Amino acid sequence: MSDQIRNIKGTKDLLPSESRLWLETESIIHNFMTLHGYSLIRTPIFEKTELFSRSIGQETDIVNKEMYTWDDIDGTSLTLRPELTASVVRSFVQNHLGNLSPLNRLYYIDSSFRRERPQKGRQRQFTQFGIEALGSPNPEQDVEIILIASRIYEMLGIEDLEIHINSIGSTSSRTQYSKSLVEYLERYENELSDISKKRLRTNPLRILDSKSDKDIKILTEAPLISNYLNKNDRKNFDDILKLLDDLGISTIKNPKLVRGLDYYNGMTFEILSNNIGAQSALCGGGRYDKLVEYLGGKSTPAVGFAAGLERLILLLKENKDTNPLNQADIYIIALDESANAYSFSIADKLRNKLGIKVICETLRRSMKAQLREANKNNAKFTILIGDDEIKSNQVIIKNMEDGTQTNALIDDIENYFGVDYEYK
Ligand code: HAM
Repeated sequence: MSDQIRNIKGTKDLLPSESRLWLETESIIHNFMTLHGYSLIRTPIFEKTELFSRSIGQETDIVNKEMYTWDDIDGTSLTLRPELTASVVRSFVQNHLGNLSPLNRLYYIDSSFRRERPQKGRQRQFTQFGIEALGSPNPEQDVEIILIASRIYEMLGIEDLEIHINSIGSTSSRTQYSKSLVEYLERYENELSDISKKRLRTNPLRILDSKSDKDIKILTEAPLISNYLNKNDRKNFDDILKLLDDLGISTIKNPKLVRGLDYYNGMTFEILSNNIGAQSALCGGGRYDKLVEYLGGKSTPAVGFAAGLERLILLLKENKDTNPLNQADIYIIALDESANAYSFSIADKLRNKLGIKVICETLRRSMKAQLREANKNNAKFTILIGDDEIKSNQVIIKNMEDGTQTNALIDDIENYFGVDYEYK
């Protein structure tokens, strides 16, 4: 036997034991987004590296150390997308979507890639679902985004969530704040982590997102952005908070929430759960009014969020039975080789005309083994068909729940299930 080839660290196979839950959840997300007027957008899995370094920011952890990047044969630097906002904005600009409508509501469910240390709820290939609303500068658009994010979890029965919210203000507020932050941090410069020392000169706000214990301790006394918001920024944030409050959505103001990506301005938020281990962020997002222009488009205000699907599934698995039960409504037991053609054509009719899930035997097992297989699949009925049944043009139908048996004409089988059992 040759050596086994295993998957890459931080990636996972989706196996049948979980695929049903994934499909159901994805389908709920698709319906939910459609209900809110959002349209699906799908962008390529890899892009020019520059798209991400420009949008997410050169000094962020994502761009600095987590991207899967390589040079193509022609020397172009390419990257597996670490998130979708940059790609969606690239596509929005390139395809002139802004000309089609003053407001574009877009959503996605797709893979992203970050070279992080794998742990529960953190993978190197993971799935994000999210929305981006491009066109409205108003607080009600921010609220729509938070509302959709929070209602999805609510609808799926996930409880004990916290919505953390902040405003990092406009560029002018942030410039003022940045000065005070640098003044404060310079007093502790020697104690800061190496990366934060560097960021003190290049991108001081990034330091607020540091994971280093030393930095976190120094930051406890640091000035807060909320004290530096200008009048407009403050009014805008208050309007968002008021509307959320009117809708009964409770939030926790967290003045330290700056998020790990550079494109934000104004409102930022995250939804957290204490039930998924160390990786508590279920979803995060905020406003990014400058990004479209920054990527070559016309100035367009925008706001959105993205959520980790694996983290959501972890929570759903706690609530749900994930067994792939009821793979088949009907199991067709073929007793002789001559039964195969009949068995396939009966299955076709039942699937196509009545939408019944049907499995046919292909392993040529004994009747007993096939009955066992039907039970394992939780089939409600078995249809037995062999030489004798073909001769008499009648199959035996066994109700697996009460054990009763009846005969039905082969040609009449759809009526039998369609009418007698009101099968759906
Ligand atoms: P983000 O906070 O980097 O934001 O990621 C959003 C969500 O993706 C996280 O809250 C988490 O649930 C999930 N996630 C991130 N990294 C991993 C990982 N390694 N393994 C599993 N799940 C992970 C963004 O990506 C922004 N694009 C959000 C956004 C959209 N802002 C505006 N629009």
